[in-house]
Amino acid sequence: MLQTAMRYSHTLLKEVIQAGDTVVDATMGNGNDTAFLAQLVGLNGSVYAFDVQEQALQNTEKKLVESGVREQVRLVHQGHETIATIIPKETTLRAAIFNLGYLPKSDKQIITKPDTTKQALGALLARLESKGRIVLVVYYGHTGGEAELAMVQNYCQQLPQEEYSVLTYQFINQKNNPPILFCIEKK
Ligand SMILES: C[S@@+](CC[C@H](N)C(=O)[O-])C[C@H]1O[C@@H](n2cnc3c(N)ncnc32)[C@H](O)[C@@H]1O
Repeated sequence: MLQTAMRYSHTLLKEVIQAGDTVVDATMGNGNDTAFLAQLVGLNGSVYAFDVQEQALQNTEKKLVESGVREQVRLVHQGHETIATIIPKETTLRAAIFNLGYLPKSDKQIITKPDTTKQALGALLARLESKGRIVLVVYYGHTGGEAELAMVQNYCQQLPQEEYSVLTYQFINQKNNPPILFCIEKK
C-alpha cells in the first residue's frame, strides 16, 4: 500500500539518520516526530524541537518521558525562525522535519507562516550536511495555507540543482487537500 505523506516523511528520515546525529523538529506539536527522531539518534545524538505553544512542549515532554527518549532532546519554546540563534553555526545537521499548518484539536489560529518558515529553512540549509534531508509536510486546507504552500513550492523550485535534489509527494485524487510532502536533499 502507498504510504501517507506523514508515513513517507518518516521513511525519508529513517534512510539518512544514524545514531549520534543532530537533527531538528521545526514544528513539535504533540511530539510525534520529535519522539521518532529521538529514537533514531539515540543517547549519543541530539534533537532540537521548536514550538510557540506551551501546550506543545508539555505534550511532547510527556511523550518523550513515556518513551524513554527525553535525554537527547532539547525542547525550545520559541518559533523556528530563531533556529540561527539557538543552533551554533558550526553544528551540522543530518535532517529536519516540518509539519506545516495548525495543531489538530488545538487553537486553529496558531499556524505556521510563510516568512518565518522561510527564515527557518535558510538557517537549516546553511547547517545541513551533505546527503542530509529536510522534509516538509505541508497542510494547506486552512486560511493562509495556500500562501505558505506557494512559498514552499517556489523556494524549493529555486534551489540550484547542482547543490540540491528536491522531490514532492502527494495523492492527487484525494478530497480535502491532502498534505503535500517536499524533501530537500543536499548533494
Ligand atoms: C501541524 S502541527 C505539528 C504536528 C507535530 N509534528 C506532531 O507530531 O504533533 C504545527 C505546529 O507548528 C507550531 N508552530 C506555529 N508557528 C510556529 C513557529 N513559528 N515555530 C515553530 N512552531 C510553530 C504550532 O504551534 C503547531 O504545534
